[in-house]
This record gives sequence, C-alpha cells and structure tokens, in this order.
Amino acid sequence: MSVSRGGFSSRFGFIMAAAGSAVGLGNIWGFPTQTASNGGAAFVLVYLVLAFCLAYPAFMAELLIGRYGQANAVTSMQKMSRNLWQKRFAFIIGFSGIICAALILSFYGILAGWMMSYAVEPVTTMLGFNDLSSWLTAQSITRNLFFTALFMMLTISIIRRGVEQGIEKWSKRLMPMLIGLLILLIIYVFTLDGSREGFIAYLNPDISRVFEPDLLINALGSAFFSLSLGTSVMVIYGSYISKKENLVTLGAQVTLIDVSIAFLAGLLIIPSMYVAQAQGVAIFGDDGSLISGPNLVFDILPTLFDGMGGIGLFVGFGFFVLMSIAALTSSISMLEGPVSFVVERHNIERKKATTFIGFGIFIISSLIILNFDVLFGFVISLSTVYGQPLIAMFCCVFVGWIWQRSDILAEIKQGNDKVEYGLFWKIWPWYTKFVCPSAIAIVFFHSL
Ligand code: PFF
Repeated sequence: MSVSRGGFSSRFGFIMAAAGSAVGLGNIWGFPTQTASNGGAAFVLVYLVLAFCLAYPAFMAELLIGRYGQANAVTSMQKMSRNLWQKRFAFIIGFSGIICAALILSFYGILAGWMMSYAVEPVTTMLGFNDLSSWLTAQSITRNLFFTALFMMLTISIIRRGVEQGIEKWSKRLMPMLIGLLILLIIYVFTLDGSREGFIAYLNPDISRVFEPDLLINALGSAFFSLSLGTSVMVIYGSYISKKENLVTLGAQVTLIDVSIAFLAGLLIIPSMYVAQAQGVAIFGDDGSLISGPNLVFDILPTLFDGMGGIGLFVGFGFFVLMSIAALTSSISMLEGPVSFVVERHNIERKKATTFIGFGIFIISSLIILNFDVLFGFVISLSTVYGQPLIAMFCCVFVGWIWQRSDILAEIKQGNDKVEYGLFWKIWPWYTKFVCPSAIAIVFFHSL
C-alpha cells in the first residue's frame, strides 16, 4: 500500500512486525518465569483465557484507533474527538502511551544488553578469552553501559530506515529465525534426561489454583505486556495497515502467534529446568516453588549449558541469540511510538528524530544503570504495573464511550464488509465499552 508517511507493504509484513513487537523478552523470559512461580500449567491455562478474552479486545481497540486516524497515537485519538475536552483527553492518553513506550525501552534495552553479552560469551570461551568471558557474564557498570549502547544502536539503525525498509524488512527476517531457533532448541531439550518430568509439570494444570487472585493478576499483566498494550505502539502499527485488510482476523492472527510463542517458550524453559535438575542443579527455592526471575535465565540455564559439554556452547549461543532477536523486534516498535509522534507533529526528519530520541532513551538507561537499585524496579513498575494497564483502559474507554458506534463500524467494515453480521460485532463493542475497562480497573486496583 505504501502511503507517503510509510506503511506495511503486505499483510505478512504487518503480521511479522506486530508479532515481532508482541513476542519479546515478555514471552521467552517473563512467561516461563511467571509460569514457574505461579504453579505451572494452571497459570498457562489462565493466561490463554485472559489473552483471548481481555487482551485481544483491547488490542483490537488500539489497532482500530490507529487505522482510523492514519497517524501517531496523539493525532489518531484527536481525530476521534468531537470537542475540546475530548481532544485534551486524547492528547493526555496518546502522549502518556508514547512516554510509557520510551520508559519501557529504557529498561528493556538493559535487559536486552544482558542477553547480547551472554550470547557473545560462548564465542569468547571457545576462543579461549577467559577474562573476557568472565567480564561478559558478571554484573558491572561498564558491561551494562556497553551492551545497552550496542543494542540501542541496532534499534536506532532499523528505525532510521522507516517502516517498509526498516521495521517490516527486519521483522520478516528476524521472526522466522526466532521461531526456527525456538523449535530447534525444544527438540534438542526433548532428547535430554529429565525433560519428560518437566513437560508433565508444564502441561498438567492444578485446577484448584486457577482462581487465586495473584495468579489472575500476574496472568493479566503478562498478557498486556506481551501484546504491547497501553504504549501507543499498536496504534501506530495499526496506522500503517492498508484499509483493504481485514483487521479482525489480522489482530486474531497476531494474538495467536504471540500466545503460541509464549507457550512454546515455556515448553523450552520448564523442561530445561528439570533437565538441569537431573544434572544436579537445584531448581526449587526454599519455599518449594520453582526458581524464577533472573536466576532462572542467568544461573540455571547457563549451568545446564555448561553441563552439556562442547555442544552446550552452541546451545547457549543459540538460546541467547534467540533472546536478543526477540528483544530487538520489540524494541524497534517501542522506539517507533515516540519517533512517529515527533516526525508527524513537529515535522522533523525521521533519521534525525530517531537518533535524537534513541540517544535520549539511552541517557535514561544509563541513569538507571548508574542507580540500579533505586531506579530499575521503579521504572519497571511505573511503566508496566501502572502505566500500561491504565493507558490501555483509557483507550478502551475512548473507543467504547467517545468514538461513535457508526464510525467504528464504518472503519471495521473496510476490508471486512460482512463484519456487522458476525460474532465479533455482536460482542466486541459492548465488551470494549463495559467489560474491558472494568476488568482492567478491578485487576489494577487489586494489584495496588
Ligand atoms: N511485548 C513485548 C514482550 O513481550 O517482551 C514487550 C513490549 C513491546 C512492551 C513493546 C511494550 C511495547 F510497547
């Protein structure tokens, strides 16, 4: 389609880009970690239900806002507004989403930097540079600054090229690589002793835990983070989709890919933990639950890779390359949010805007690295625990209460002219109006 402001040239390009944004450290690290600390398969079950019943409708709302507005998040939401107050409200929500994306990128870049340094380590070990290997795997300010800068430079270099030549082209290359690598690793782990027990723990839900409030809150938070909601990112990606495309199915396909990859990642990580246990590694904490959090990725898995001998270097390399790719396809979407705003609202050239904003976010990351204990957790909570759910909730309020029903229908009908006779149109409008905002609000206040 390629309009003058840029756009995805194909349906496949959009699916790869949006799935690339959705699939990231949240799926491959966060989801298995949460599964481990929330009772295994019961969490998986709840996550799947919430992803389709709450996250997908909110995701559709954001995509629709963007495709209707054909512009960045602020401009798109203002186009739906009919009076001054609504326009102001639109500005606050759209702009908060943009800031939220920038804040997420500022800590995500640090995590991605860790993944990259762990991906380089097997190479330096193979070459016999032992001091360098120790530096790569030990926490230090210099290492963190170096790899965060490297990761930000990669992100900037893709976004500088624009939508088709940057986001779309690279998502189309990286996403199939990611899926291929993930499947290869799962097949390999499946051949190792101990993996069967892990598969059983992962796939056998303890139904009695399904309604535990903590489990519900964590599952909803993961689903929202995973679909990149409340960050303006899906609004801007929606604005790059052709009006000829059927948004309802495109959105469902992206949700399905996102959820499937999280599921596959669990199929890799949880059985890997049991393989590590078969090799003598302790995988349960003092309270009897599976070890989760950073220890899982940076202690247990590397110990597992070490125990595999020579091949462990290749498996470790493959795993952390996988993590780095997943992080990169997400980080480009986070940078596109603020960049599209500055380019469209302030008429600044894309390359300049990208470098400038990317550098600004790197400065925030550096501040976090230099004051890690105080700022790291704070920025994560601010953006993901408070920012994302609230902004996503207001996007639903905007679509449900401010946007006129006839205008919504006219927008969805483009590319899907029979939509008003189908199930989606019977359920989604009232669902977005009542159920999504109330459910998000309940979970949000509960989590406080
Ligand atoms: N969805 C990404 C993940 O699961 O890792 C994280 C993410 C990407 C959050 C883009 C927010 C965002 F705007």
